[in-house]
Order: sequence, then C-alpha cells, then structure tokens
Amino acid sequence: MKVVSLFSGAGGLDLGLIQAGHRVIWANDNDVDSCETYKLNIGDHIICKDISKINLQEIPDCDVVVGGFPCQGFSMANMLRDTDDDRNKLYKQFYRIINNKKPGYFLAENVRGILSLDSGNIIKQIVKDFSDAGYIVKYKTFNTADFGVPQTRLRVIIAGTRKDLPENMEFQFPEPTHNKATWISVSEALKGIPEPEDPKSKLKNHIYSKYKITNRNFTGHRETDPNKPSPTILARGNGKGGVCAIQHPGNHRRMTVRESALVQTFPITFEFVGSMGSMYRQVGNAVPVLFGLHLGKKLEQLKSVLV
Ligand SMILES: C[S@@+](CC[C@H](N)C(=O)[O-])C[C@H]1O[C@@H](n2cnc3c(N)ncnc32)[C@H](O)[C@@H]1O
Repeated sequence: MKVVSLFSGAGGLDLGLIQAGHRVIWANDNDVDSCETYKLNIGDHIICKDISKINLQEIPDCDVVVGGFPCQGFSMANMLRDTDDDRNKLYKQFYRIINNKKPGYFLAENVRGILSLDSGNIIKQIVKDFSDAGYIVKYKTFNTADFGVPQTRLRVIIAGTRKDLPENMEFQFPEPTHNKATWISVSEALKGIPEPEDPKSKLKNHIYSKYKITNRNFTGHRETDPNKPSPTILARGNGKGGVCAIQHPGNHRRMTVRESALVQTFPITFEFVGSMGSMYRQVGNAVPVLFGLHLGKKLEQLKSVLV
C-alpha cells in the first residue's frame, strides 16, 4: 500500500511498515535531527516542516495515513474548533489531512493516557469526529511485549477504515504472538552487545547518559529485571538535567542509545543523528519497528484502494 506518514520521527513505525512490504511515499516531521535520521536510514521523502505549514496539495494521494499526534494537554472544548487554543493543534492537523485526503485507512498511535483524558470524553470525541468524516473507527490498547518486542510498552492504536470499502476490507488489529510465558527478556535482546568502553566495540550510537542512577523506584530510575522485558523506553527527560534512560539489565549503568534502540527493535545498523539527548528522544518516541511490522502485516491482507 502507499503510505503517507505524519509525525514520522526517526521512522520506527515507517520502517516496520516498509518491512511488511508497503511503500512510504511521503513523510513529515518538524524536528531536524529526526528528519536527518530518517533520511539517512529510510529515504529522503521526509519533509522537515511544521505540519500546519503544509498545504494539502503537497501531500500525495495514498491508501493509508499513519501518525501519532502528541496529545498532552488536550482540551475537550476546542477539539476541532478554530480557536486560539493551541492544545489540540496536532490533532486538528491529523484530522485536516484525513478529512481532505480521505485515504482508505488511517492508523494513529498514542499513549494509553489518551483513553482517560477528560474521563474518556476525548477518545469518544475522536471516534465521533472520524466517524462523521466517513470512517469506521476502533481503538485498542496493546502491550508491545505481546508482539515479541523486549519491552513492556502500552500504546493505543486508533484505526479507521473508510466506510465505503467492502465489509471484508475493514482493518483488523493484529493478534498477539507472545504471552507472559514467552515474552522476550531485555537480557536476551542485548545478548552479545559489548560494553561501550570495550575498545573492540564498533557499534554506532553506543553512548550513554552518566546522570546518576538513584534507584528510587520510579520511571527511569528503577532497576531493570534482566529476566523480563525492559520497562518502557521513554522520550522525555526527568526534569533534573538527565534524560530518562532505562538502566542496563546489569544495573551498573544506563542503557546506551544503541541498546535502547535495540529494545525498540531498530536494526543494529540503524544510525541516529544528533546530540545524545536528541538520539535518546528519537528512540523513545518511536513505535517499536517490530510492532509496526505486525500492523503492516494486517494492512497487507487488504487491497490497495487507489485506482
Ligand atoms: C511520538 S513521535 C512519532 C514517532 C514515530 N511514529 C516513530 O515511530 O518513530 C511524534 C513526532 O511528532 C513530531 N512533531 C511534533 N510537533 C510537530 C509539528 N508541529 N509538525 C510536524 N511534526 C511534529 C515530533 O518531532 C515527533 O518526532
């Protein structure tokens, strides 16, 4: 299928879709480092610009639009209304493009918190907005560990199928391939990876934050259980000058950017561009490539809707 990717970041989701056999024909992000990473590893079809500055004519026709619109600070009152309120800006952009391009399908990734915003009214409104725009909309929470990703990462996928498509062409969510008993542990995922100080290590991006680990048992500081999937790889800092990098399963230091990327199932040759903080952020922002592949496989079972 021909895919247009919004809020593409470094391209975790896009790479998974490409691995499933799809063609990403156009992508967008406004973060310079993410765009450089994307160009280096995926292709130069990414446009580095604020999405609100993109004219609809610039976006090619496609079968699928994908993208996770950041949703912090959503305000129910102004969901699609044209007000000065900036908080729903990116949702409005996502909606603008779907509503005008009318792709056969759309997939939007988001954090689980979106389901509880305004006591669940936000997600209800999102379903209504896209239903009114002509889509059958469904959403589901996934744990990426259930799909072979060595990481507990809970994310919501909102999926839309254009209502005029035949019933047997409705997008179906992927079924888990793993369960608690077969989850891939973080130590399995990092087996054989040399220490960053090892002079024989030739790995790119194998650098880590030295910000002191305090083990206060909250996100970013808790110990990593080597026998379990990694805790969620995060994109944000901790507000105290340190990036929120998860500990290595040996619990002697933070994971390097490379190790975090492996836990996010990026190929070992995928190279990130930018400062250490920027690289950690790009990795933490991504949809795990392997989960993208599973979503892509479900799209592969449907036919292109473009004539
Ligand atoms: C959660 S990340 C997406 C990660 C991506 N799906 C992946 O798998 O790697 C959200 C992205 O939205 C981008 N973004 C935020 N505001 C934007 C804007 N106004 N225009 C374009 N992109 C924007 C950020 O730079 C960030 O890379």
